[in-house]
Amino acid sequence: MEADERRRRVRAVRARLGRGGPPRTRGPDLERVTLPARDCDLLRDLLVGEGVETVVEIGLAYGSSALAIGEALVTVGAPHPRHIAVDPFQRTSFADAGWRLLRDAGLDGISELIALPSALALPRLVADGLVADAAFVDGSHRFHEVFVDLYFLRLLVRPGGLIVLDDDWTPSVRTALRYYEHNLGWTPLPAAFATGTHRHPGDAPAAPPVPRCRAVRLPDPPVEPPFEAFQPFWAGL
Ligand SMILES: C[S@@+](CC[C@H](N)C(=O)[O-])C[C@H]1O[C@@H](n2cnc3c(N)ncnc32)[C@H](O)[C@@H]1O
Repeated sequence: MEADERRRRVRAVRARLGRGGPPRTRGPDLERVTLPARDCDLLRDLLVGEGVETVVEIGLAYGSSALAIGEALVTVGAPHPRHIAVDPFQRTSFADAGWRLLRDAGLDGISELIALPSALALPRLVADGLVADAAFVDGSHRFHEVFVDLYFLRLLVRPGGLIVLDDDWTPSVRTALRYYEHNLGWTPLPAAFATGTHRHPGDAPAAPPVPRCRAVRLPDPPVEPPFEAFQPFWAGL
């Protein structure tokens, strides 16, 4: 299939998802769970600009972000595109809704699903020697689990590569990410999602809204500071 035709097919499935929702939902939680279309477009454009070939995603759910990642990979057209999605609950909680959409979009040839918690899946990928160009993080939002995701993604994503997190307005995600920014030289790219969806940090109406997604670039070469150089990183929410 030609690249244009593959892209059209992915876009058609994305449009269908936007109009009619996923093939199955677990209740009226689509809007709360899934990445909004505008942010999906920004994620796609960012990944296309990076010329990505291998992308790791944590949290497949209804597949909105996965389809955007797939569209980016098809658009770039690198020789061996790979999208590795990690989600232990795709079958049990989402009745495979996200995976079905990836299949409908013709992306099952480049996408794979690891049905394990990310804290178990990511170290396996490290041990397998996987090197990714970028990662999208939207799995468990508990502080300790996001922190561990980022710990392993630091080993999986190549130096100079990108990590994008959804829900940077939540105190748990925001605080976990700030450790890496304050201590390990991860550089935020504030322009990447400036025109995307905004939320009040911690849902506090008085706090000025921030973009819900945040992109960071890993340092090249990697930074490994001495423990005495530790910087407090509490995001102050
Ligand atoms: C907010 S949803 C992701 C939404 C998705 N990005 C989209 O656009 O539809 C969070 C997902 O993380 C998954 N998840 C929860 N705990 C996880 C864990 N420990 N490891 C990996 N995924 C996890 C859930 O099953 C759910 O699919």
